[in-house]
Amino acid sequence: MAKVILALDTASATEAIRLVEALGEAADFYKVGLELYTRAGPSVVSELRARGKRVFLDLKLHDIPNTVVGAVAAASDLSIDLLTLHAAGGRAMLEAARGARTGPMRLVGVTVLTSLASEDLRAAWGRDIDSVSAEVDRLADLAQASGLDGVVASAEEAAALRARHGAGFLLVVPGIRPAGTDRGDQKRVATPAAAVRAGADYLVVGRAVTSASDPSAALATVLSEVAGAEAETPGTRG
Ligand code: C5P
Repeated sequence: MAKVILALDTASATEAIRLVEALGEAADFYKVGLELYTRAGPSVVSELRARGKRVFLDLKLHDIPNTVVGAVAAASDLSIDLLTLHAAGGRAMLEAARGARTGPMRLVGVTVLTSLASEDLRAAWGRDIDSVSAEVDRLADLAQASGLDGVVASAEEAAALRARHGAGFLLVVPGIRPAGTDRGDQKRVATPAAAVRAGADYLVVGRAVTSASDPSAALATVLSEVAGAEAETPGTRG
């Protein structure tokens, strides 16, 4: 069953916890990313854990192995469920991260950010890009070979990744936009139903819910779309 993770991209812990309390039982898995973590630090993670919420710490680590080892060990102590690293950090960094992880926390590799399209990659990497999916495949292969538990990718690549890496490989899919919502800075977007059909394990949903005039109603719409798509395509994921 695909699950929804809500991205708490807020400027303060107070704002984040207000939203968590307003949504109550309807949401049990939250993403703390760079903005909130930089402002509020590990205490916001503890506040979420104290409310029984699961936490995805989206720090997108990308540094030398020794530094990443220290960060992964520290994140393991926070009792979180998921932590991200950039797969482009390379095999030594990814394997070192795997070795430093303790407890049940799973490590997922960011492949290509959903805000990037092929022309952005061409400009950043200085070479022609045949297709974004080929780059995602290459980075996902590296993540799996280095012992990570899965990857972050867009719904556009999810079906191919599922076929290539099997049912147990976690697919975390951001860039979720219910029909009629603004795509903002995201380029490779999909509706909740399309992400479920493509085989996502986790849908990361941010502004479509958190910036809605009624976040509870927006979340209910996303959850019912996920349940509807799930009923049509059972058993595609691990
Ligand atoms: O508001 P929106 O739904 O676009 O938020 C998506 C969230 O997923 C953001 O917190 C962003 O940092 C995160 N993310 C992403 N693309 C990735 C990895 C994470 O958009 N490849």
